[in-house]
Amino acid sequence: MTYDEIRKLFLNYFEQHGHKIVPSASLVPDDPTLLFTVAGMVPWKNIFLGNVAPEFPRVADVQKCIRAGGKHNDLDEVGFDGRHHTFFEMLGNWSFGDYFKEQAIEMSWDLLTNVLKLDPNRIVVTTHISDDEATALWKKIAGKDAIRLDKDNWWSAGDVGPCGPCTEMHYDMGADLPGGLPGSVDEDGGRYVEIWNDVFMQYNRDANGNLNPLPKCNVDTGAGLERWAAVLQNKRDNYDTDLFQHLMDATQDVVHVARNTENMPSFKIIADHLRAVGFAIADGVIPSNTDRGYVIRRILRRAMRHGQLLGHRGPLLSALYPALVNEMGAAYPELAREQAHVVEIIKNEENAFADMLQNGLKLLDSELPKLQDKVLPGAIAFKLFDTYGFPLDLTQMILRDRGMTVDVAGFDTAMREQKERSRADTKGTKVLWESRANDVPATDDTNKYAPIENLDARVLAILHDGEFTDSAASGDTVEIALDKTNFYGTQGGQVGDSGDLRIGSDVVVNVTEAARAGNIVIHKGTVVAPIHVGDIVHPVVNSDMRAQTTRAHTATHLLQAALRKVLNSDVEQRGSRVAPDSVRFDFSFGRAMTDQEKEQVEKLVNDWIAADLPVTHEEMSIDAARARGAMALFGEKYGDVVRVITAGDVSCELCGGTHVYHTGEILRARINKEKSVASGIRRITMSVGNLAE
Ligand code: ALA
Repeated sequence: MTYDEIRKLFLNYFEQHGHKIVPSASLVPDDPTLLFTVAGMVPWKNIFLGNVAPEFPRVADVQKCIRAGGKHNDLDEVGFDGRHHTFFEMLGNWSFGDYFKEQAIEMSWDLLTNVLKLDPNRIVVTTHISDDEATALWKKIAGKDAIRLDKDNWWSAGDVGPCGPCTEMHYDMGADLPGGLPGSVDEDGGRYVEIWNDVFMQYNRDANGNLNPLPKCNVDTGAGLERWAAVLQNKRDNYDTDLFQHLMDATQDVVHVARNTENMPSFKIIADHLRAVGFAIADGVIPSNTDRGYVIRRILRRAMRHGQLLGHRGPLLSALYPALVNEMGAAYPELAREQAHVVEIIKNEENAFADMLQNGLKLLDSELPKLQDKVLPGAIAFKLFDTYGFPLDLTQMILRDRGMTVDVAGFDTAMREQKERSRADTKGTKVLWESRANDVPATDDTNKYAPIENLDARVLAILHDGEFTDSAASGDTVEIALDKTNFYGTQGGQVGDSGDLRIGSDVVVNVTEAARAGNIVIHKGTVVAPIHVGDIVHPVVNSDMRAQTTRAHTATHLLQAALRKVLNSDVEQRGSRVAPDSVRFDFSFGRAMTDQEKEQVEKLVNDWIAADLPVTHEEMSIDAARARGAMALFGEKYGDVVRVITAGDVSCELCGGTHVYHTGEILRARINKEKSVASGIRRITMSVGNLAE
């Protein structure tokens, strides 16, 4: 029986027994306690908890699952035996307060022995040590004496949440295989494989570890499709089943190496990781350095390492993805629907890591002969992580092949030190300025929108070489706070002004950038003539630079309006950097834009520029702004009085930045690039004004 046939058979069986058949939920759970959907029950958690009423009392499905991090983690097992996977499909049937133990066990037994015709003598069952009822039911229904176990027969998805005793069905793969009965010391030998688990969801474990009864008694069952396929295809290794054989054939074609007993783990790992990475990205996960994005990045990098062990260079999972679509696309249409997006993301990730992998391995090869013992120092593992992007588990995996380990405590220390250093760096002088918040008042920067000539400003503080000082001399790199300024200090994505500070008509400080520390505008630059605290200076903004940034900022608003018009009105700004005549704009959107869409957006922006729309800058209450439909930034906090920038009737946004008065001043806009930066977030880079022309 093929995978497709088994899925159908399972669902048909439960449909005939009154279950509603539903499609798999996403691998990304709507649940902050889990990184991935680790079991078929995850999407039903709120029903078990009584927070949501079930639409149907009985359902069944085939759920996509990933167990590669957190409580349920099979990552390290993959490749070295025949029955573990990071991604797998879980067949499951549920009762939400409908049938309970008896009918659940009856149906499991009926399906296994009467429909699938498995030999009843080869099935071993276990029950929880406390569960007399299930134990008696097995005797009654199947004539079986259950093996009674403790922790193996209690199931929960996470440390808190719904849980309960369970009963597992194990299949005897053959007396010639090593391994003892479930619960015995050598139970992991491989002879007995768990093929189904019926969980009786009765309790909710709270954060203190207490078991509270759930409102109803529920059933949650889970059966690994890959294991069923092995049993039904008379294979002892899941990877010998049709689906995996096809994926491994495809891998052979890509790496140009035939599989043999020695390189088999690499083939298995690549086939497994292809599924995890492909399905996760199709469900919207983007490789990154945090959370589930990092799990996927690690899995992808491990797969690349195994490609490399097979002598392969260049794209691997991106080249194999079409084979995955071929194999599983009929059951999971999202694979084909998201194909372009998934392949692009995997390709980017593979390209970015390819050189790092080679260089990191070189470093490792040069370090290993120097070691006295079989433990790699944490500092080197950290360098591999920090400089070459080797996740710790990748380094461990590579070393395991050579009988070596990593000093994990040393790695953790190096990581902690690095974090402390970078925290100190990024905070930089901001911390120092914040320490002066009591005696350096907020800078009055009301003139920033319309800088005035010869504004008299008093020098309040000078920071030089990490210390506050009364004066600075020519050549010193300084940061200066004034009581008032014409400068726009970096804020809301718009980069701060450059310019100079003058005494009379003499330049005393060249300002490269005005930044902000809280409400203080800090003028960063180099001293050209002595300056003292208390001096009266004129802050003079570089007007070319300001004009360019101003054009770019209004152009950003037009860009956002155009994106909402061409793509859809849900597009939201997620970040921006508005620099002289150039814009980087991040927005929420689930896929790459087509060339045609990019052209349409660029044309729309240029049409609005050509129309020379009036741009108004108004202050009003936040309520008035809302009433006008002004667009506010996702997650941003606004004061009671806000500034509203309106361009003709195409754009109306809350904004504290500087803007032109007529869109014609922008001259021209050109989209240079559009790419993905994170899960569901795209980035456009755009030139405006002279740069675009
Ligand atoms: N939720 C149970 C399991 O994953 C069925 O084993």
